[in-house]
Amino acid sequence: MALPNDNIGDKTREVLAAQAHIWYHTFSFINSMSLKCAIQLGIPDIIHSHGRAMTLSDLVNALPINNNKAKHHDCIYRLMRILIHAGFFIKIKINEEQEEEGYLLTPISRLLLKDEPNLSMIPILQAMLDPIMTNPWHSLSQWIQNGGDDQPSPFATTHGKPIYEYAGDDARFNCLFNEGLASDARSVTSVVIEHCKGVFEGSKSLVDVGGGTGTMAKAISNEFPELECSVFDLPHVIKGSEGSKNLRYIEGDMFNSIPSANAILLKMILHNWGDKDCIKILKKCKEAIPSKENGGKVIIIDGVLMEHNLQKRDHKSYETQLFIDMLMMVSFSGKERSQQEWAKLFSNAGFSDYKIFPILGLRSVIEVYP
Ligand SMILES: C[S@@+](CC[C@H](N)C(=O)[O-])C[C@H]1O[C@@H](n2cnc3c(N)ncnc32)[C@H](O)[C@@H]1O
Repeated sequence: MALPNDNIGDKTREVLAAQAHIWYHTFSFINSMSLKCAIQLGIPDIIHSHGRAMTLSDLVNALPINNNKAKHHDCIYRLMRILIHAGFFIKIKINEEQEEEGYLLTPISRLLLKDEPNLSMIPILQAMLDPIMTNPWHSLSQWIQNGGDDQPSPFATTHGKPIYEYAGDDARFNCLFNEGLASDARSVTSVVIEHCKGVFEGSKSLVDVGGGTGTMAKAISNEFPELECSVFDLPHVIKGSEGSKNLRYIEGDMFNSIPSANAILLKMILHNWGDKDCIKILKKCKEAIPSKENGGKVIIIDGVLMEHNLQKRDHKSYETQLFIDMLMMVSFSGKERSQQEWAKLFSNAGFSDYKIFPILGLRSVIEVYP
């Protein structure tokens, strides 16, 4: 597209820029959906297995698409073009004389390979972009008109029940959601164990509350063989999971009671809930652990909203935190919290102090002491 002519005048230029801005935001979902399409077609894995830059024809031939592959050239070319623009692939010249070009992965799309150990983000992407998760967005304004915070989330309004109840009744979604969170846990665990080992050292026992299928607890129990670990979650999540020497699974509801331990882990739990529910959960945690002097602590892995001065400097990370905050509003009844909001929550639940380790990019490890 040609750049606006210099002599069109400031007013017109301003309107054109405003229109472009609105077009951009109107169509931003196309980035997510193009990425989802590429994952469903297995494009990153196909290019990776090719072992060198892959031409469009080779890519089309390798794709799991029905007959008349030639017909698909244009769609795949256009899909790849937007994904190159978004940084997921690059195109390089393979052969100067014939001007042949080929696609390669970038460091970002390596995280979109199925078998990238501990790092693949495919399961979390598939869970978050499933229609069960995306449909409720269409009724957000209606939800706000009807009373917002005081009523069940848009997810619950759309699907007739809150997300964790829904997951208990829909085996496909339950599996997709748990797999998604497990992949996220895999990618976080190694960083936490490597860079924040100290938070687990010295404890005799740990309960991972809302620990899902146990990915994080398994890694912790392997790294610290003397630590007695438990995964505590709803029955439909841990059904069929098998423990090991120092790992066991316990069914239950964290709003009723939490098994006793030196340390409680809450990874990606509290941002699912509003302040009143978080205080209830934290009070149950406090009942389950010993005093600070005797090593009691709650270890939280969750987002801490960026301070004002960083928001502009790391625009993309801050925007992602705001996306997650909106996701918490629509799919759960939760929110992302600033450091001040976390501090207030801890104090209202009766905790004396806390320490934040900002080691996980968009998220942090927070130690909270009774
Ligand atoms: C966002 S997932 C986090 C899973 C895991 N901690 C992780 O980060 O991979 C929240 C977890 O909380 C569990 N959960 C929700 N309500 C619960 C309750 N009342 N009692 C125990 N666990 C609950 C869900 O089943 C789910 O596994």
